[in-house]
Order: sequence, then C-alpha cells, then structure tokens
Amino acid sequence: MDESFYHTPVMLGEIMNALRVRRDGIYFDGTLGGGGHSLAIMKAGGRVLATDLDEAAIEYAGKRFEREGLHGRYTIVRDNFKNFAEITASAGIDEIDGALLDLGVSSRQFDDGDRGFSYRYDAELDMRMDTRSGPTAEDVVNDYPADELVRVLREYGEETFAPKIVRAIEKARKTHRIRTTGELASLIADSVPYRKSGHPAKKTFQALRIEVNGELDGLGKAAEDIVGKLKSGGRLCVLTFHSLEDRIIKNTFRLLSTDCICDKSLPVCVCGHKATVRQIRAEKKAGEEELRANNRSRSATLRIVEKL
Ligand SMILES: C[S@@+](CC[C@H](N)C(=O)[O-])C[C@H]1O[C@@H](n2cnc3c(N)ncnc32)[C@H](O)[C@@H]1O
Repeated sequence: MDESFYHTPVMLGEIMNALRVRRDGIYFDGTLGGGGHSLAIMKAGGRVLATDLDEAAIEYAGKRFEREGLHGRYTIVRDNFKNFAEITASAGIDEIDGALLDLGVSSRQFDDGDRGFSYRYDAELDMRMDTRSGPTAEDVVNDYPADELVRVLREYGEETFAPKIVRAIEKARKTHRIRTTGELASLIADSVPYRKSGHPAKKTFQALRIEVNGELDGLGKAAEDIVGKLKSGGRLCVLTFHSLEDRIIKNTFRLLSTDCICDKSLPVCVCGHKATVRQIRAEKKAGEEELRANNRSRSATLRIVEKL
C-alpha cells in the first residue's frame, strides 16, 4: 500500500485539548483509521485500545506505530466499536481515561478506487468497511425490494428524488445486475436534475454506505457504553460528519447529561434518572485554518462530554 497519505486527522488540536491525556492513561479510539489521533494520544504519554473494521487501516496504523517506537503502548482489535463492552472485557479493562469516535470512512477508503465508496472511481459496488461479511452495495442495489430501497435513500441520504432513482434502478435491474459504481452513478445522473450542491449520486452513495455498514445502528448505545466505563473527569469526544449521526450523538449526550426525564407536566420526579456526564461543548466546528487546509473538516461537528 502507498504509505504516503492515508488520512489527515480532523480537529486534532481540539480533541487533544479535550482529552487532557494522562501519562499511562488508557484511551479508547473506536475508529483507528490511519491512526492519526491515536498516535497523538500515545505521543502525549497515553496508552491506546483501538478498534477498526478495516483490515487495511489496521495494517497501516500498526506499522506506523511500530515505526514510531510505540510497541507495547497500544492494542488494536479488528472489531466494531459497538462491541465496546465485550472488547474492554476481553482486554481486562475496567475503566478508561478517555475515548474518541471519529465517525464514518477515512479519506483513504474514499480514495481507494477499488473499494467502491466513491462515484469518482469506477469500481465494483462494494462499500464494506469490513470485507469479511456482507451485504455489499451491489446486494443492496440489486436485491432490496423497491420500497426498501426508497426508504434507505430517503432515510440515510435525505434524497428527495429517491423514488425516481429507484425507478431507474428497477428498470436497469430487469435486464442485468448493476455491478459498478460507474453504472450506478451515470444511471442516477440521467434520472435526476443537476444540483448545485454536488454530484447527483452523492446522497445515494452516502445512503448505501450507511446501509451497507449499519453505521447508525446502535450508535447511541455505543456512546452510552463508552461513557459507562469512563473514569470520573474522563471525556468522550465524538466527531460526526452528517446530520443523521450527529442527531443521534446530540440526543444521547443530552439524555446522559440530564437529571430528570419525566414528562414536564408531572409535579415531582418519578423517573429517578440521574445525569452521568456534563456537556463540555454542545457542538464545535473546525477553525478557519483547518477549514482551508482540509476540506473534510468542513462537515465535521465535535461533541464532548465529561464523566461526572
Ligand atoms: C474517519 S476514519 C478515522 C480516522 C482516524 N481518526 C485518523 O486520524 O486517521 C474512520 C475509521 O473508522 C472505521 N470505522 C467506522 N465505523 C466503525 C465501527 N463501527 N467500528 C469500527 N471501526 C469503524 C473506518 O473503517 C475508518 O477506518
């Protein structure tokens, strides 16, 4: 693999400030990617337990850490961060000092012409972060019933032309399986009007990627589980890149930082719900300099909570 570029870590300074890394503290990086954030945590003296679903990311980051002489300071597990409880249990970790989720796919995954994440390269319709199991984007596009496909495009892509796009897909798949990103992208471009906001296939590709990787399933629960193992004063930072995942994190953090969640009409609390975190910063965007240097940071929102 070309090692020259993998992924520029987003809002690195803000995240490092938030984590306040302690020497030999244990930090969970649920989305290892190219290892940029983990590397900074280790260089600041922390130890890292990291997960990623992508074999190539794990191989790349592992080599990078070894080159940096960090042997023994990190553990990488090829798993879904949503299995946090099991992962920490089998690593024998009861408490962590801080955690990070940098959601979605890396620049490397997008720019690898063979992975099928992008309409910019003609490739097999794959889009899996974890290539050990299905479904692929090809399965979703060709095998989902039309109404299911409309739901996916509407729900995960907020695609207003979902029925039109699905009609075009249905027509094509009557004669053959749609196998490539190139065919899907041009089929979409031919069926919806040109938009100033970007390529006509952008929303459909986002929707398919979210569906294929189950990106939103159990996300709120994962954040809750991670918070459950934070030491008092430890922080969880979450970087989101679109409104759907951001809404889940926003609502989870709101709930976790609220004492009583009873109906407002009740005169006294009957739920007994107690806040376990406080919100450090409800929402933070990248600074001007980073926005200029890294296009990907444009859609990033950082949310941080601290364990009480
Ligand atoms: C935005 S990148 C992370 C970049 C990383 N912070 C860096 O500095 O290089 C997201 C990574 O998380 C992985 N990923 C996404 N969802 C995941 C999940 N649910 N479980 C484990 N890894 C996941 C992706 O495969 C990808 O490599």
